[in-house]
Amino acid sequence: MTALRWGILATGGIAHAFTSDLRTAGLTVTAVGSRRLEAAQAFAEQYAIPSAYGSYEELVAAPDVDIVYIATPHSHHRDNALLALENGTHVLIEKPLTLDAAQAAEIRDAAAARGLLAMEAMWTRYLPHMVRLRELLASGAIGEVRALSADHTQNLPTDPTHRLNALELGGGALLDLGIYPISFAWDVLGRPTAVSALGRLGDTGADTEAAISLVHGSGAVSSLLTSMRGAGANVAQIIGTEGRIVIDSVWYTPTSFRVHDRDGAVREEFHSEVDGRGMQYQALHAEQLIREGRTDSELLGMDESVAIMGTLDEIRAQLGVVYPQS
Ligand SMILES: NC(=O)c1ccc[n+]([C@@H]2O[C@H](COP(=O)([O-])OP(=O)(O)OC[C@H]3O[C@@H](n4cnc5c(N)ncnc54)[C@H](OP(=O)(O)O)[C@@H]3O)[C@@H](O)[C@H]2O)c1
Repeated sequence: MTALRWGILATGGIAHAFTSDLRTAGLTVTAVGSRRLEAAQAFAEQYAIPSAYGSYEELVAAPDVDIVYIATPHSHHRDNALLALENGTHVLIEKPLTLDAAQAAEIRDAAAARGLLAMEAMWTRYLPHMVRLRELLASGAIGEVRALSADHTQNLPTDPTHRLNALELGGGALLDLGIYPISFAWDVLGRPTAVSALGRLGDTGADTEAAISLVHGSGAVSSLLTSMRGAGANVAQIIGTEGRIVIDSVWYTPTSFRVHDRDGAVREEFHSEVDGRGMQYQALHAEQLIREGRTDSELLGMDESVAIMGTLDEIRAQLGVVYPQS
């Protein structure tokens, strides 16, 4: 089969990082679309992309695009993803999938109806250290998992009009950063059966901090922290009856971890050797699924992405964050 042809929808910060990783991995990028033709042309020139379009509509209609990567603010993911799916292209959509579970379900259902792949770009799930970690947990390396902790904390822009603070663009730490530890807790321990969150809102009404406690089906608990006004350790640990796994900073990027036994001795160490930022693994996974004629990821399927948006909805309600569109 010929190489899958990627189209990049939007030219902001993460579109640059992802396209650079696609290039590093030798994948094929044929087109980029922006609201402004000049921005698309400058982006195309930087990454040697053959076609540049001055609208998202033109990008998704391009005959040489098989899969569109959506890198707009969360508030636009639903409309952009539906536009691409309606034009018959697969979609890889930046996290969070949408603003809420109802919007996420619309994307899932539209993709299923057309037999196309839709996948959330929760790139951490696909990183080599996470693959090894899941193997270790499945083999019982630390016994029964009883608890998990993780933070995602950064010092981010305070400008009230920035997408991270503006409610109409889906602003807030929870949807941008907190989703990482929440998705991680889902990955390791499954669906939460109880959700409890306390937090703090900034001047715009977007959450700047949240402390989140989850209880999972097995009875295990998760303690998760997010802030966009201060940078913490960004480490994670999984605690089991026979030991613990400590994932070093920054746990959600390519990094190292250690497996300790119940006496604290180190039984295994893992060190990531990754080219670039590490966003290419999700793209390689999407390509493999499409090659095999599959339309849902077994590592993070759309039902789970929709359900994770449901957990975020519940937390957002407890924090009192209301988006105008949701
Ligand atoms: N995976 C990761 O590590 C990671 C990291 C950062 C962000 N993200 C996710 O990626 C998405 C984009 O984040 P970003 O940091 O790249 O944002 P950004 O730098 O602000 O870029 C967003 C782009 O979206 C387009 N856009 C369309 N409508 C817009 C509007 N009303 N306001 C602003 N931009 C608009 C613009 O591209 P054009 O002008 O070209 O149309 C803009 O450059 C978010 O959903 C975020 O959660 C993921």
